[in-house]
Amino acid sequence: MNLLVVGGGGREHAVIKKLKENPRISKIYAAPGNGGIAQDAICVPVKATDIEGVVKFARDKKIDLAAVIPDDPLAMGMVDRLQKAGIRAFGPSAPAAEIESSKVFAKNLMKKYHIPTADYDVFDNVESAMEHIRAKGKYPVVVKADGLALGKGVVIAENEVAAQDALHAIMNDKIFGASGDHVIVEEFLQGPEISVLSFTDGETLVPMVASMDHKRAYDGDQGPNTGGMGAVAPNPYYTPEVAERCMKEIFLPTVQAMNQEGRPFRGCLYFGLMLTDQGPKVIEYNCRFGDPETQVVLPLLKTDLLDIMEAVIDGRLAEQKVEFLPQAACCVILASGGYPKNYYTGLPITGLNQAEEQGAAVYYAGVKEEEGKLLTAGGRVLGVTALAETLPQAVEKAYQAAEQIHFDNMHCRKDIGRRAMEQRGE
Ligand code: AMP
Ligand code: GLY
Repeated sequence: MNLLVVGGGGREHAVIKKLKENPRISKIYAAPGNGGIAQDAICVPVKATDIEGVVKFARDKKIDLAAVIPDDPLAMGMVDRLQKAGIRAFGPSAPAAEIESSKVFAKNLMKKYHIPTADYDVFDNVESAMEHIRAKGKYPVVVKADGLALGKGVVIAENEVAAQDALHAIMNDKIFGASGDHVIVEEFLQGPEISVLSFTDGETLVPMVASMDHKRAYDGDQGPNTGGMGAVAPNPYYTPEVAERCMKEIFLPTVQAMNQEGRPFRGCLYFGLMLTDQGPKVIEYNCRFGDPETQVVLPLLKTDLLDIMEAVIDGRLAEQKVEFLPQAACCVILASGGYPKNYYTGLPITGLNQAEEQGAAVYYAGVKEEEGKLLTAGGRVLGVTALAETLPQAVEKAYQAAEQIHFDNMHCRKDIGRRAMEQRGE
């Protein structure tokens, strides 16, 4: 089979490495991939958001299955277009992807179908939003841009001035473009966060092993929000009791709600959950694999990923086995110093082979290749993942491998997995 994976980050590299374990696959292409992914796939210079370019490429190369991984092409309807062109594609349709691309849609869906989430209101101008915030007088308050904003469209405002600044930036200065035409003002929730990625064919939903992201830039959950600085799995807060409640109160009701709305979801549905005093609540949905969660979840997947993707596409997930290794995984992200703000790129990366010799997997995110050398090319540069019998062992192994790698100004958090280990008393 010839496969095409759309996207070019660490998450896509993890998908490609997993797919490659299947002997039925002869070629894997990545559009656009990156200079590091090129070790595992044939990278083609077609942008992930170039719908017509991807469809044409898939036709020309007789692609048997295309997996569309990032949010933008899904929201733009790439899967719909591929399917119309007769190409089997993994990922939700554009109407189903709206569960991520419009927070207003997602919040209204949860309200209508009684799926637990933070209380909220929607506004289309700064004045009425501020009036509401002042009337409530409860801080912190959470302000969210409606649309896609690279994971940066959420502000936790500690007081009135901060809330006003956030609303101005999003709605008047339009720092996220049209994503800021509407904002959500929502109740601040507290508790540990749990990421659950799931496979669903619109009828059956199979949760993957639960994971924990580390969104803030610095140790101790300090500093600005990033795309994610590391992840561990399994997430110790996701006990069998929590899992059962999630399935009953959140996962299945969401799948059914999407069907009721005439937007059946087929693909990977991601639940960003917060475990509050009142039980698990939805913080956000993503219509895709999470990054960096995928870099710990897929290495633990025992079942063949291509088989599962085909079962999802064909609507036979109920008959498909989905098994995970009974191990722990830790992924440490190596980022460019300064990320998520300003940083340098084009810096040579060394020690990659030594890291893999330590038994870790290295996933390439912001990397390019020039004259045979790998150089930094983004904020999040690499993900270093290790598996072990226990979480402390996985954490230690991941850091040992990460220590082999060097580029100027490299930054990583030193405490990935700490909160999870404390919860387990390890
Ligand atoms: P989101 O992009 O919606 O996942 O939000 C990014 C991050 O902001 C989440 O992972 C949470 O850490 C935080 N966050 C979002 N909504 C809330 C909320 N209602 N209460 C507390 N924290 C929140
Ligand atoms: N790690 C969160 C996300 O992928 O959006």
